[in-house]
Amino acid sequence: MTSSLCFPHFFFLIFSLVILTAQSRTILRPNNLVLPLQKDSSTHLFVTSIHKRTPLLQLPFVVHLNGQCLAQTSYCHTCASAARPGCHNNTCGVMARNPITRQTAMGELAQDVLSIQSLKGSNPGPLVSIPQFLFACAPSKLLRKGLPKNVQGVAGLGHAPISLPIQLASHFGFPPKFALCLPSKSSTNGVMFFGDGPYYMHPNIDVSRSLSYTPLTISQEGHYYIPVTSIEINNKPVPIDTSLLTFSPHAGTGGTKLSTANPFTVLEHSVYQSFTKFFTSQLSGTPQMKTPVAPFGVCYDTKKLSYSKIGPQVPNIDLVLQNQNVKWRISGTNSMVEVRPGITCLAFVDGGFRPRASIVIGSYQLQDNLVQFDLAKSRLGFSSSLLSRRTSCGNFNFTTTSATP
Ligand SMILES: *[C@@H]1O[C@H](CO)[C@@H](O)[C@H](O)[C@H]1NC(C)=O
Ligand SMILES: *[C@@H]1O[C@H](CO)[C@@H](O)[C@H](O)[C@H]1NC(C)=O
Repeated sequence: MTSSLCFPHFFFLIFSLVILTAQSRTILRPNNLVLPLQKDSSTHLFVTSIHKRTPLLQLPFVVHLNGQCLAQTSYCHTCASAARPGCHNNTCGVMARNPITRQTAMGELAQDVLSIQSLKGSNPGPLVSIPQFLFACAPSKLLRKGLPKNVQGVAGLGHAPISLPIQLASHFGFPPKFALCLPSKSSTNGVMFFGDGPYYMHPNIDVSRSLSYTPLTISQEGHYYIPVTSIEINNKPVPIDTSLLTFSPHAGTGGTKLSTANPFTVLEHSVYQSFTKFFTSQLSGTPQMKTPVAPFGVCYDTKKLSYSKIGPQVPNIDLVLQNQNVKWRISGTNSMVEVRPGITCLAFVDGGFRPRASIVIGSYQLQDNLVQFDLAKSRLGFSSSLLSRRTSCGNFNFTTTSATP
C-alpha cells in the first residue's frame, strides 16, 4: 500500500497544521501568502489550487468559508502507528463532512507537506512549505455530490482552535488575517490572501486601503457573523422585524452570516417579502416579468434595465452595520443577475420560515468585493464593489516573480 492509493480517494483539507517548529525547514519568512480562486460556473462554488505531497502536486480544493475544522481531538479515535491501507501512514479517524450535501463519513487524518506561494509586492513570490500539515482523507463517495468535478476536497476557512489562518500566521509570524476576493467570471482568477496588506490589484491599487470595518462574531460552529442592523434601499429603511437581525450565540439563531456555499444571499421569509416588495416599488418604472425564473422571485427583461460601467442601474441596497455611518453597499453588479439571455433577476432568494441565520450573504454578493477576516481584532473589513474603484478581483497579477534575488 503506497501513497498512490490516495489519488482515487479525495481529500478534505483541514486548515490546521501541526506545529513542530523544531522540524520546520522554512527558509523564508513571508509576511503574507496568496492563493488563486476560480469560479466553477456549474456549481457556483469557488476552487483554489493547493500544492501538496512530495513531489509537489497542484490539486484543486473547494473553498468553504464556514468549513469545519475537522481536527477537533474529540473526533479523533485511535491513531495507528504502523502503516495501514488507506491514505497515509500515521493516520487516525476523523469525521469528514460535505458542506453542500451535509453528508458525513469517517475519514482519516494525515500529515503531508503543504506549499503555498508567498506574496512579494504586487505579485506571487517563491513557494514556502509547511512540512507537517494536517489533512483529512474522506471517502470519494462523500465528495461526488454537489461539488465541482475533479476537486480533491474542501479547504475550510471556518474559525476553529487550529484554523489555517491562525496556524499559518503563527507558523510564519504574521497577523491572523485572511482576505477573499471572489471573481465574477470563471475566465479570470480571483485571489485569497493570508496575512496583512498591502494587496495590490491592477492598476497598482492597494485594495486593503479601501476597507470599512465592522465587528465579526464567530459562532460556536466557527461561522462568521456581522451585525447588520437594518437594510436600506435607495437610502430608505426596509420595514423588517429587527429582532430577526440579532444573532443569539447560545441558540445559534438569527443574525447575518457570510457563506461561500450559498451562491446567492438568502433572506428569512418575512425579510425577503418586505425586501422584494420595497425594491420593486423603488423600481416601479420598470415592469417585472410575470413568471420569474426560480429560485428568484423578481425578474426583469434585461433590455428594459439601463446599464452603467458597474452593472445594471437599479436602486442601491445598503446593509447598515453597527451604526448609520458604516454601510455595505450592494450596487447593481452584485444585486442583479442575468440568469438567462434577456432575463435579469434580483439575486436574492427566500430562505423560508425559521432558517438558522436570518440573512446569509452569498457568493454572488461577495464577488468583486474584498472581504478581510481579522481574527485577532475580531473585525471584518469590506470594500463594497471594487468596480467603483476601477479594479476587480480578476485584477491580481499572478505572474510569479523570481525565487531568489
Ligand atoms: C509508510 O511507511 C513505510 C515504512 O516506513 C514507508 O516505506 C512508506 O514510504 C510510507 N508511506 C508514506 C505514504 O509515507
Ligand atoms: C504582471 O507582473 C509581471 C512581473 O512583474 C510584469 O512583467 C507584467 O507587466 C505585469 N502585468 C500587468 C498587466 O501589470
